[in-house]
Amino acid sequence: MQLKDMGLTFEDIKAYTEKYMIETYERFPFLAERAKDMYIYDQDRNAYLDFYGGIAVNSAGNCNEKVVQTAVQQMQEVMHVFNYPYSIPQAVLAKLICETTGMDKIYYQSSGTEANEAMIKLARKYGTDNYGPNKYHIITAKSSFHGRTYASMTATGQPDSAIHKGFLPLVPGFTYAEFNNVDSFAEQVTEDTIAIMLEPIQGEGGVRVATDAFLKGIAKLCHDKGLLLLIDEIQTGWYRTGYPMAYMHYGIKPDVVSMAKTLGGGLPLGAIIATSEVAKAFTPGSHGSTYSGNPVVCAAGYAELNELIDRKLGAHAAETGAYFMDKLRELPHVKEVRGRGYLIGVELDIPKAVEVKRKAIERKLLTTAIGANIIRMVPPLIASRTDCDKACAILKESIEAL
Ligand SMILES: Cc1ncc(COP(=O)(O)O)c(C=O)c1O
Repeated sequence: MQLKDMGLTFEDIKAYTEKYMIETYERFPFLAERAKDMYIYDQDRNAYLDFYGGIAVNSAGNCNEKVVQTAVQQMQEVMHVFNYPYSIPQAVLAKLICETTGMDKIYYQSSGTEANEAMIKLARKYGTDNYGPNKYHIITAKSSFHGRTYASMTATGQPDSAIHKGFLPLVPGFTYAEFNNVDSFAEQVTEDTIAIMLEPIQGEGGVRVATDAFLKGIAKLCHDKGLLLLIDEIQTGWYRTGYPMAYMHYGIKPDVVSMAKTLGGGLPLGAIIATSEVAKAFTPGSHGSTYSGNPVVCAAGYAELNELIDRKLGAHAAETGAYFMDKLRELPHVKEVRGRGYLIGVELDIPKAVEVKRKAIERKLLTTAIGANIIRMVPPLIASRTDCDKACAILKESIEAL
């Protein structure tokens, strides 16, 4: 939809939004009328350099041509049929994902939080099928983020935040341990514990990377105690950190992995992948969803992943992300730069991340802020060194303009 075709102005859209929509986000002060590769264009055709990628979604670039063409073609063939007939997009994407990750089985969902719901349900079903009805306790990390539906929200280890506030009682059976502290997790294991659930890099929690000793230690703890290891790769997955999945940096093998964001190439697609042993717990009738594995989103996901693989964007993100992080460390007021590949957090020594974000938007660079101190960047993986240089220059100006 375009303003001129609709006979509307930006002011009309703002007014409709304010009057009719429940708003839970601070909007950027412009309208996204077009998007292509590294840029988003506003109502006046101003180009904004996109270093948030729809929050780690548009990895092969905004409106990637192959993704768009594949989705449009699929839309003209079969748009939605539900899961009774076999489906080409579902099957070819399942094969690609399982072969790339070395996992056995996939279950499709429509978002990250739904993928985590499925992961939690699968772990509980496996626990109760194999060990009895009390085997449902799951340990997650403090400052984690796993989504906004009830089980995912409960798994999110931020009990004092707006994410939980006002929504009690939460789902029983979750406790929170210290991230990057194996002992803290070990202390919470009881005879009712079935799983440990973790992000390899806490994205929303401030871009905190799991140490090698921590994830390896957790994998060993799970092995020794017979627990399932559930890894949330919703933000970190699909080459954002270099490898297909971020857990692969650690040489560990999870039992279940959740994914979304990049997976759909801009359309709402989530999934879990699991070992065949654990996957057996989902039997006919035990889980389902009308849109699960919708042909259009699976076709888009197939095109997106092939783009990332064919263009070797994982290696590119690892290499260019490291270059970018080094440059960011030279900026004023930067206390620490954390992350891997193109999942980057810049911690400032002043509580002005939101102001820096706003000043960067004025200069046509898009980023996000986490809390008071952290600027987060999760650009499309196609971002070049030139794009990174430009983003750095704008951030420098934005910090200096405070
Ligand atoms: C690690 C992680 N898990 C889960 C989610 C929830 O995904 P969605 O917003 O698609 O429900 C997010 C979203 O930011 C995430 O970063």
